Amino acid sequence: MKRKKEHKNKLSATTSRKQSHVELVVSEQVSHRSVASGFDDIRLIHNALPEIALTEVDTSINFLGKHLDVPILISSMTGGYTDAERINGALAILSAKYGAAMGLGSQRQAMESKLFHNSFKIARKENPTGLIFSNIGAVEVARLNSKGKIGKIKMLIDLIEADALIVHLNPLQELLQPEGEPDFRGVINGIEKCVQSLGVPIIAKEVGAGISKEAAKKLIEIGVRVIDVAGAGGTSWAGVEILRQKKKERRKLEPFWDWGNPTVDALLQVRELKKNMTFGLIASGGIRNGIDIAKSIALGADLAGIAKPLISTFMNEGEKELDRIMEELIIQLRYSMFLTGSQNLPALAKQPLQRI
Ligand SMILES: Cc1cc2nc3c(=O)[nH]c(=O)nc-3n(C[C@H](O)[C@H](O)[C@H](O)COP(=O)(O)O)c2cc1C
Repeated sequence: MKRKKEHKNKLSATTSRKQSHVELVVSEQVSHRSVASGFDDIRLIHNALPEIALTEVDTSINFLGKHLDVPILISSMTGGYTDAERINGALAILSAKYGAAMGLGSQRQAMESKLFHNSFKIARKENPTGLIFSNIGAVEVARLNSKGKIGKIKMLIDLIEADALIVHLNPLQELLQPEGEPDFRGVINGIEKCVQSLGVPIIAKEVGAGISKEAAKKLIEIGVRVIDVAGAGGTSWAGVEILRQKKKERRKLEPFWDWGNPTVDALLQVRELKKNMTFGLIASGGIRNGIDIAKSIALGADLAGIAKPLISTFMNEGEKELDRIMEELIIQLRYSMFLTGSQNLPALAKQPLQRI
């Protein structure tokens, strides 16, 4: 009886955490404050002689074996509670309509119970052939591996027929989260086991504090196929977790609100590894318009990921406005390509950038 009650409490802890994350992100100011993504400090060089027509600009890319119409990732956000089904459904429809990739939010809850499996499954239902990623936290990966149970993650991948598994690295968030587990021992071994045994490519991402060159190198050496730098300058997960803390705890943690490597710095660092290593690169953390996406591609990224603007718009303004955001992003990207004389993404990737 006692064990059953404990299990129920644990269930509701993960479920209500995912719900409170969305509520806070949508209703509070949770961006980094004094640290910027860095996109406003660099400029694509204007080409007064582009020698291409806007109509022939091609934004498509092949990524992890699938075709995307745009180099955009709807970044991992949610799942595992009642309303998450509606949110993931809308985001999956968006990804299918515009040919973008989509990451599901952490699927830890789906390992604890089947209750909200539909909140994840809906993504594959609404986007049957698109590029969709599973998601699990690094601490969970280490824990499962230490018990010889990494195979349990296979169920999460199968649930949505995922094309890849994202492992999120979130030491800052674990540190500041009221129920966090700041113990990263065994994470590298756990991710290596995922690479060897799960049968899908592994993507490693941060959640807004950035991945350094050294960390990325370790990850690629153990077989991680894609690095999503998820840098600082957008949503601050330190900020979100500080707001979830009791008032008397907040003052102590407040200085960490802006901790992290800004997105552009992280991209500049990690792309250096491309000289000697083969891997996919995703830019995320504070991508706010299509020019940021174009700059990301010119900085070596294959895709650019966006989280908060999409969920805030959906929750505050509804599904139609999601279309508006996506259309604006794509038009801004296409115009940036035209204005730099880049007919396609490989041409954009070769464009020089200037520090302002
Ligand atoms: C409501 C919300 C929930 C999130 N949950 C997850 C998650 O479960 N797993 C994960 O890897 N990242 C998660 N993230 C982080 C985002 O994927 C992204 O890395 C980060 O928010 C930075 O992007 P942004 O500045 O565009 O918001 C979440 C973001 C938001 C806004």
